[in-house]
Amino acid sequence: MKFKATSYHFDLLKDNDRLSVLYEAIRDYNQGTDLAYDLGCGSGVLSYFLSSKFNEVISIEIDQKAFRCAEENLLDFDNVQVINSNVLDYDFTRKADLIVCEMLDTALIDEEEIPVLNFAKRFLKDDGKIIPQGIINTVELVHLERHHIHWDEGANYETLSDEVAYSQFDFLDDINPEFKTELKLKANNDGLVNGLKITTYTKLNENLIAGPLPMLNPPLLIPLDEKHINVNDFINVEIKYIMGNGIESIKTKYL
Ligand SMILES: C[S@@+](CC[C@H](N)C(=O)[O-])C[C@H]1O[C@@H](n2cnc3c(N)ncnc32)[C@H](O)[C@@H]1O
Repeated sequence: MKFKATSYHFDLLKDNDRLSVLYEAIRDYNQGTDLAYDLGCGSGVLSYFLSSKFNEVISIEIDQKAFRCAEENLLDFDNVQVINSNVLDYDFTRKADLIVCEMLDTALIDEEEIPVLNFAKRFLKDDGKIIPQGIINTVELVHLERHHIHWDEGANYETLSDEVAYSQFDFLDDINPEFKTELKLKANNDGLVNGLKITTYTKLNENLIAGPLPMLNPPLLIPLDEKHINVNDFINVEIKYIMGNGIESIKTKYL
């Protein structure tokens, strides 16, 4: 099927690995098939996957241009209803078997996955599922060339510690968007640390985990004050941010 999409949603469609893991997760879902919500449906591609499994799909998109594309793309699917609304303003009246919500970004800082799911989860049946199911975040010490927060889209940096998992979330749990943790990172090289690299792994379901992809959580590079380190040193760092409040909410300091 050919999809009409905004340029951003077209880039999402072009990332084949991203689309494949989302497709696989929906394909492997094998519980109730009455109702699914597709929150932030974009071009409507995931609603298209859902339409053959569910009696009814309700697809909600905040962006008007994307909504118009989804509406057109899904016109022939009588069991899919596309709605132009902020999920947080939508008047949910029924509980669903499945919520699909791909408003992910690295460590969930910049996008609204957590506020949206904290709100919409009330409209999930007791045994309902969420796709993606959760995330795992890791961190490394790095030397960055650029001294501002940026995503790893071909950026140059040198890694100076092992990769350490520092948090993980299951979206079925209630999640406090205000996140703060203390990291103890062991240098695996001599060098000049001036940043952290955060990598997010997406848990699509119990059996499927996606690493960072160009359009699904590319690693995030965050500046730190400069510090000379030697191999086997332990470096203690505090990191805090508010999930859903943007990358400006990230604060880091040495402890
Ligand atoms: C990463 S895109 C995913 C689009 C589509 N599901 C796909 O996989 O191609 C996230 C979408 O969520 C929408 N979105 C973000 N916040 C929203 C909100 N509060 N309510 C409804 N849609 C929202 C964005 O406009 C965007 O289209």
